Amino acid sequence: MKNIAVSASLLSADFGRIAEALKLCEASGVERIHVDVMDGHFVPNITIGPAVTAAVRKNTRLAVEAHLMIENPWDYIEDFIKAGADVIGLQVECYGVRRPACRAYGQYPKEIDVLDTAAFRRDMARIKAGGREVCAVINPGTPVAVLDSVLSGAGEAPAVGSVLVMSVNPGFSGQKFIPEALDKIRYVRARFPGDIGIDGGINAQTAPQAVAAGANVLITGSYFFSSADPRAAAALIKNR
Ligand code: DX5
Ligand code: ZN
Repeated sequence: MKNIAVSASLLSADFGRIAEALKLCEASGVERIHVDVMDGHFVPNITIGPAVTAAVRKNTRLAVEAHLMIENPWDYIEDFIKAGADVIGLQVECYGVRRPACRAYGQYPKEIDVLDTAAFRRDMARIKAGGREVCAVINPGTPVAVLDSVLSGAGEAPAVGSVLVMSVNPGFSGQKFIPEALDKIRYVRARFPGDIGIDGGINAQTAPQAVAAGANVLITGSYFFSSADPRAAAALIKNR
């Protein structure tokens, strides 16, 4: 059984008091800080970018993961390496032909049926060259089999560092958990020994289901930050 880690999504924190939110995470037994980077194109919301990620990095000892929900993520990889993100999450939907219903600007969620493995591996190599971990992130509507080619190494090409299964359509915190994400977790766990995260709608009810399915990194936004007792909330998620 892998160690369970809680990753707090700053999207639900008070943006005027991020340093305090980081202290709260550290005091509450949270292992990682999850930074949701959104551009108003890949998702219908705009949040924060490399500058704030760098400020987060400077103000916490916890691992920082940058979840890139942006178009053309390749244009920003070096910026997030420089910002000090330990893990850089790439949405696989940026690497492949989009389904017709989500091709145009403003059509969400973004989904693909086939991964452009070569393009994805090129960006994986850049992230690894920068000394960071690559995380492959998959939306609810994208079939999990697109991950097959990056879950294991092929010749010189290494496997992805970790996988993040979205259990909501990305864009906002506070949405309802999509239970089909559990099937994806089971599929990935049967083929991949590394960290598997789940992101969206995680709370004391859904976290144990995700862990039973094989997830070991639990991202939590609204459940943790809106709790009257965040330390207890983090412990409940970890089921301890
Ligand atoms: C959704 C983000 C999530 C979100 C999680 O687009 O990627 O990280 O902030 O928030 P909750 O836990 O409230 O669903
Ligand atoms: Zn996220």
